[in-house]
Amino acid sequence: MSKPTSQAPSDNACACCSAAGEPADAGRRQMLTSALALAAMAPIAAMAQEGEAKRSTKPEPGDKLAFMLGEKQGKEILPADLKIGGEPTLAYPLDPTTGKALVSKAGLLVVVRLKPEDLKPGSAKNAADGGVVAFSSMCTHYGCPITTLHPTGTQVVCNCHGSVFNAADRGVVTNGPATRRLAMLPLELKDGAIVVKGKFDGPLGPPT
Ligand code: FES
Repeated sequence: MSKPTSQAPSDNACACCSAAGEPADAGRRQMLTSALALAAMAPIAAMAQEGEAKRSTKPEPGDKLAFMLGEKQGKEILPADLKIGGEPTLAYPLDPTTGKALVSKAGLLVVVRLKPEDLKPGSAKNAADGGVVAFSSMCTHYGCPITTLHPTGTQVVCNCHGSVFNAADRGVVTNGPATRRLAMLPLELKDGAIVVKGKFDGPLGPPT
């Protein structure tokens, strides 16, 4: 009389073709496929994170400008929106990829259009469309936003304590208590649009 075998059905099954082996193999294949898919996606996710990490809210070359306030809030500022002698326009950088304004205190700009003939070389080289110039709006005294045009028409004023900065000459201080000039943001005209040409040319806000 032969002894009954005690081997489990799965041990008898062929690994590649038996009905008993299929569920286990299908599970393994699914896991392998998922693992490969995840491995393939990892570099893409890393690239996306890298791209996001590189994009700060400060203006970068290629950005456009967007209105901070008013009925055109968030919309692109066009050359025709800026008039000689008009009050300064407060603006945020406009990301050309997303079309959205990048809102931050450090990225807030004060933008004015001056007469081309009033510009000193330091401001002229950073102006778009002949006379549009942009500066960090953060006052270098205590950091209030700069919002007002001086009666001279070429300077901007901080209303907190009266500091005056010459927009026609790279934002130098013409009246304190601020002691450091405003950081200027180079602009250019490209395909009819006002575009950021470079990064701020100096430190932002009050000295630390
Ligand atoms: S914060 Fe601008 S003058 Fe004081």
